[in-house]
Amino acid sequence: MTEIVEKLYRGEFLSDSELKALIETDDQQAAELLKKYAVETRLKHYGKKVFLRGLIEISSYCKNDCLYCGIRRSNKEADRYRLSREDIMACCENGYELGFRTFVMQGGEDSFFTDDFLCSVIAEIREKYPDCAITLSLGERSYESYKRLKEAGADRYLLRHEAADPELYKNLHPSEMSLDNRKECLFHLKELGYQVGAGFMVGAPFQTTEHLIYDLRFLQSLQPQMIGIGPFIPHHNTEFSEEKGGTLELTLRLLGIIRLMFPKVLLPATTALGTIAPNGRELGLMTGCNVVMPNLSPVKVRKKYDLYDNKICTGEEAAECRGCLERRINSAGYEVVSERGDCLI
Ligand code: 5AD
Ligand code: FES
Repeated sequence: MTEIVEKLYRGEFLSDSELKALIETDDQQAAELLKKYAVETRLKHYGKKVFLRGLIEISSYCKNDCLYCGIRRSNKEADRYRLSREDIMACCENGYELGFRTFVMQGGEDSFFTDDFLCSVIAEIREKYPDCAITLSLGERSYESYKRLKEAGADRYLLRHEAADPELYKNLHPSEMSLDNRKECLFHLKELGYQVGAGFMVGAPFQTTEHLIYDLRFLQSLQPQMIGIGPFIPHHNTEFSEEKGGTLELTLRLLGIIRLMFPKVLLPATTALGTIAPNGRELGLMTGCNVVMPNLSPVKVRKKYDLYDNKICTGEEAAECRGCLERRINSAGYEVVSERGDCLI
């Protein structure tokens, strides 16, 4: 098994059967080697730097009904909120003082946030904080809309593809949602010059190793600048409430593989990873991750952006994720930098 890891480290192409063997192996020596090479690769390109992204969750309204997600429209128990322009600007002000140089505006697909409104908020952030990157994560929109948002000053867009295999995609989404459209959005974003983030959940219901390989192949064709993966975690008000969640081990395995397959990619140690294990994000950093995304949303709304159960950083104690994360990052042997943190590709 270690030969497969060596091959991946040398940048050679792995066949589907080799990838399957590596994803599924319980050979501890191979797992350790994968980790070691993942760290070496990130050190070679990014040193010990960890980039911060200040996450501003602007709306928990969503027109979609993804089966796994706690803020799906059919969850009538969800307590919905939207941030005002003033709220968003206050998050940025606070974030800037804390050293953040990327702001991520993320939300459900909420038609309240028109292009006009978003463009004017983006322009205001761009003007006030010219040294910061502006990232959007607002789901599927038209080519025209993505174009306007880019022209207003957005730099990056995060849109997880969620599942590249059509069968799995269908099992996780209502029939009105389309995988083809989602993939098309990602290619539109790239064409428009955004730095793009794609990604998927690990251990989603019905997901097999073959599906994961499909995800990796899709990422190879898209070549995104950022890849966001985290474990699936059941939410009590969804039909997947009784399903098993993704494991720490499999998520770390995939993070290591992704670091070697995409040496220069930006790879976040996600909140979901920190939710399934108390030191999950630290372990992610020790397996090739180089980004963390602390929550900058006003504490009063944090519990309402309720994608999955037991999400961390939502209580009063989390008013200041920045300090908490810096300690965690240092404990993993890495250092926080106050930079935009653009991708090297
Ligand atoms: N468990 C883990 N991740 C989830 N997401 C949505 N619901 C869940 C869940 N139950 C992820 C999706 C989405 C991102 C914002 O959060 O992949 O793209
Ligand atoms: Fe949010 Fe630790 S990172 S409380």
